Amino acid sequence: MHKIAVIPGDGTGPEVVREGLKVLKAISEKKGFQYETVEYDIGGNRYLKTGEVLPDSVFKELLEVDAIYLGAVGHPDVKPGILEKGLLLRLRFDLDQYINLRPVKLYPGVDCPLKDKGPEDIDFIVVRENTEDLYFGGGGFLRKGTPHEVATQEMLATRFGVERCLRYAFELAQKRKKKQLTLCAKTNVLTYAHDLWWRTFEEVQKEYPDVKPDYAHVDATCMWMVKNPEFFDVIVTTNMFGDIITDLGAMIQGGMGIAAGGNINPEGVSMFEPIGGSAPKYTGKNVINPLAAICAVGMMLDFLGQEQAASEVEQAVMDLTATKIKDLGAGKMGYSTTEVGDLVVEALG
Ligand code: IPM
Ligand code: MN
Repeated sequence: MHKIAVIPGDGTGPEVVREGLKVLKAISEKKGFQYETVEYDIGGNRYLKTGEVLPDSVFKELLEVDAIYLGAVGHPDVKPGILEKGLLLRLRFDLDQYINLRPVKLYPGVDCPLKDKGPEDIDFIVVRENTEDLYFGGGGFLRKGTPHEVATQEMLATRFGVERCLRYAFELAQKRKKKQLTLCAKTNVLTYAHDLWWRTFEEVQKEYPDVKPDYAHVDATCMWMVKNPEFFDVIVTTNMFGDIITDLGAMIQGGMGIAAGGNINPEGVSMFEPIGGSAPKYTGKNVINPLAAICAVGMMLDFLGQEQAASEVEQAVMDLTATKIKDLGAGKMGYSTTEVGDLVVEALG
């Protein structure tokens, strides 16, 4: 029995999560596995009503589940940072989800903005470090609000954090056909933090002789992702760079409507989410694309040890893009949010 915490969250989060859960129910019936869900009403609305972001009682319960399924976090009436730091980043940090795994895969039939590139060219995966770097929250103000104001925001890299992330990426690369791992950093400018990344990479790679090591600066990585995406297999990178390059990655795989990710703690509680935001302008209109949330269910199943179910969910999504849904944008799919969920269920057979 898999115990899954569900946090639908803000904006279109609840709409896409509903479709993801529809698919989860269908695949569990087909494959005959059991699960239970516990839903948590946290996010922008709860905060605006009660001032609570992530109550300790909820956090304690989350420590006991097998996985968390998250819709979206972000509310137009809440000051930037409160929900992001208090909820999303708090979960990533306090549950020590040190890997943010983001596949960039162009499914058959999907419109790709890159000229002459197809599914055989775009199939790589980004391993984003998820607990350090500019995200750890260090820094502050001096003389705030005066003409002499100073603000600092610190970049943090620890040998332990970098090494466990690199090891995860090497292990992943080892399991793939191409077995190539690109470190994406900026060693020519960030000569302390990224020197640590580089030295650790050089050391750890010796333990994985079957993996082809590669290095690209982050700016060049962006260029190659557009020019020659077929070059990449696994990219390992820092939290901030990973945030940025995976939005670019989402675009070349057809858009935010399909991009899913997992916040992984291999020894603890992991959390799966569509990587797009709460999309307030589409909220409640039944037009948002739930495929990213459905793909997040696929990733969650894989992580829970239901590999066969996971691959059938992915196959159902691919059948749909190959035959019916080319444009993955909100309102452009030719089907409503709920219809897309139904179509995936139908494709599961
Ligand atoms: C993401 C998001 C978050 C991040 C925000 C909402 C804090 O952009 O998951 O990529 O920066 O990690
Ligand atoms: Mn992001």
